[in-house]
Amino acid sequence: MSIRGKHVLLGVCGSIAAYKSAHLIRLLVKAGAKVQVVMTPDATSFITPLTLSTLSGNPVLVDYFHPHSGEWNNHVHLALAADAVVVAPASANTLAKFAQGLCDNLLCAIYLSAKSPVFVAPAMDIDMWQHGSTRANINRLKSFGNHIIPPGDGALASGLSGEGRLAEPEEILAFLEAHFAAPRPLAGKQALVTAGPTQEAIDPVRYIGNHSSGKMGYAIAAQLVNLGADVTLVSGPTALPAPQGVAMVPVTSAAEMLDACIAHFTYADITVMSAAVADFTPKDVANQKIKKDSGHLLGLELVKTTDILATLGQQKREGQVLVGFALETDDGIASAQDKLRRKNLDFIVLNSTRDKGAGFAGDSNKITIIDKHHTFDEFSLKPKTEVAADICARLVALVNA
Ligand code: CTP
Repeated sequence: MSIRGKHVLLGVCGSIAAYKSAHLIRLLVKAGAKVQVVMTPDATSFITPLTLSTLSGNPVLVDYFHPHSGEWNNHVHLALAADAVVVAPASANTLAKFAQGLCDNLLCAIYLSAKSPVFVAPAMDIDMWQHGSTRANINRLKSFGNHIIPPGDGALASGLSGEGRLAEPEEILAFLEAHFAAPRPLAGKQALVTAGPTQEAIDPVRYIGNHSSGKMGYAIAAQLVNLGADVTLVSGPTALPAPQGVAMVPVTSAAEMLDACIAHFTYADITVMSAAVADFTPKDVANQKIKKDSGHLLGLELVKTTDILATLGQQKREGQVLVGFALETDDGIASAQDKLRRKNLDFIVLNSTRDKGAGFAGDSNKITIIDKHHTFDEFSLKPKTEVAADICARLVALVNA
């Protein structure tokens, strides 16, 4: 697949590098893309809409409303019509707005409505680029599944030299071409992923929970989207933003997660259960907040929750791929193998709390994949995004076997 015939929505922000967007439009049009330009109001001070509309062959949009006609630019339609949203140059201000979900202009509203992949090519001075706020915003956009086209290193408009120059239009085009040419081995496949902890209510204000951050499951969901799957993410309470292109099903308790999983498992080709589901839940939930003067000793009676993974394992049909996780406090191989067999899994991802940097809350993980043929694959300590890629590569191999 190539960029030919693709609808590219090009966002242009207020940056001196906006002059390069004229050349980028030329390259995109030459490559056969249909280009719709949307400028932020400040961008129009750097390059005229007339230049960009002439090059793209389409009127340039800046405002939500047409001043006198009573019409408006429908940001949802514009976003959904795009095969890719490309923001080049992306100013520090627009990056911050994207990261926070602000939408005080048409481009930001389109960004929030976009279902297609989003490419962001930042351009700013070196100090702005290196500032902690910008770093945090970039990381947040990455966590949404946005693609960052890194800025170049060299002379800057300020007279300083360093990182911050907008990537050259040829590089941006190459980035987009690579995206459209990339294989989508899971296109047409339905995937179900669970992530995060569950919370089991004790009374209206307290619960039993665990330290799961959800990062592993969210990274897997984002990677499955990149590989072309339709992804449903059933998530317990986390502080993470939804990855772009994922259908979110928020749940709180193990019982709610069970219901959501059963509902979605029927049509799932791939299911990855990375959630840290509570094994026990309070037998009775107090209607009122439990007072501390109710005695020195408070007993909590707990009952076992339903093992969701084992339930799905029993329902699994020919062709469905089911993957579980095992977090063990020792090396756990035997225990993980036992879970793999009992729960009828295709493979299990083992992580041990003994490995430094692995497990629940951090950004890295160290896993061993054990499959039903007892093959072991031990991976090194890696960022969770790369671990997700390793797991998904296994899924691709299994689905296409
Ligand atoms: N799991 C689940 N439902 C539960 C408990 C766990 O679906 N009620 C899933 C987890 O999402 C994970 C796998 O089962 O993919 C392993 O969970 P774990 O708690 O380690 O396994 P258990 O079989 O509960 O074994 P144990 O607690 O004895 O280690």
